[in-house]
Amino acid sequence: MSSSILVTGGTGTVGTALLRTLADRHLPVRVLVRDRSRAALPSPLVEVVEGNLSDVSLLHDALTGIDRVFLLSPAAPNQVVLQGNVVEAIQRTGRPIHIVKVSALGAGPEAPVPLARWHAVTESQIRTAAVPATFLRPHGFMQNLLGSAETIASDGLFFGALGDAALPFIDARDVAAVAAEILIDGGHEGRSYTLTGPQSLSYTQLAKTLSAALGRPIHYVDLPPDRYHEMLVGMGCSTWWADNLTALARWLQQGATTTVSSSVIEITGRPSRPFARFVQDHRAAFIAGTASRSCRQAETTSRPDRSTPRRRPSACRGH
Ligand SMILES: NC(=O)c1ccc[n+]([C@@H]2O[C@H](COP(=O)([O-])OP(=O)(O)OC[C@H]3O[C@@H](n4cnc5c(N)ncnc54)[C@H](OP(=O)(O)O)[C@@H]3O)[C@@H](O)[C@H]2O)c1
Repeated sequence: MSSSILVTGGTGTVGTALLRTLADRHLPVRVLVRDRSRAALPSPLVEVVEGNLSDVSLLHDALTGIDRVFLLSPAAPNQVVLQGNVVEAIQRTGRPIHIVKVSALGAGPEAPVPLARWHAVTESQIRTAAVPATFLRPHGFMQNLLGSAETIASDGLFFGALGDAALPFIDARDVAAVAAEILIDGGHEGRSYTLTGPQSLSYTQLAKTLSAALGRPIHYVDLPPDRYHEMLVGMGCSTWWADNLTALARWLQQGATTTVSSSVIEITGRPSRPFARFVQDHRAAFIAGTASRSCRQAETTSRPDRSTPRRRPSACRGH
């Protein structure tokens, strides 16, 4: 069976869940990967093509016979270029290929967080190119907390700069579930959806849920944003990443986005996963202190007050 869906970012947090969801539905899908050996494929129905979003000439073959594209690249200063290459390659096909793009909460030209502005640039580029598209704008992923798995396991602590802001974090698997529905059934062109979890919770409340699930006390340690930025840089995160995480923390702490959205249930027919379910499914990682590679985007991180960080935290791995 030939696939009509192309997935980018298929080895990452959302993309892995998306491929699993499509495989569970026995749907053929093509995935573009940089390195075939890193692709863990959940089904023989997944066709792998090697390519790179940084080179538009490598995208032509990947788009052959494709009607819908899941567009995701890592949060990075070059994301506008990477994603713009996909838009350009789609334009070159001369066909109305539907993009389902993972954007970010609050994406807009005036957003206080650079990442949200970069997503807005791509959204605008897609509109200008008249490529049919749906923009998914998720809140912070629950999976970001896996970036703190190490200190949760070793010290019963995790750190951040969100104060007591209560926020509707989303399980990245629900972002994937929404994307899957749109990629499979089509429709939703021209629409943007804010995606959230089912409940707004503060980090202190997350700590209580973790404590109950792990059977020992877990505490959230709040830092002033400037101290948080200093800590991230001191531990080896790149400046642009520390800038983004700190700007995000400031914005979220101001209570910019506490509203729970109904888009997940409306599109998938089932409610988004609660935080307790996320913890239950990742309990082993929080006990063992192992972080997944998805933790690059964590807005929480490890060991702020250790004068010499033992090693670069997963929160800024890869940047
Ligand atoms: N984390 C959050 O709280 C949050 C909230 C809202 C929105 N978002 C958005 O979600 C997106 C990140 O999603 P994620 O966490 O699922 O990403 P991720 O885990 O960082 O995965 C990134 C994926 O992109 C692939 N990739 C990297 N560079 C590539 C290139 N040059 N060409 C082709 N593929 C490339 C990676 O493949 P390799 O295996 O080759 O590295 C990987 O599959 C970002 O746009 C971010 O702004 C995140």
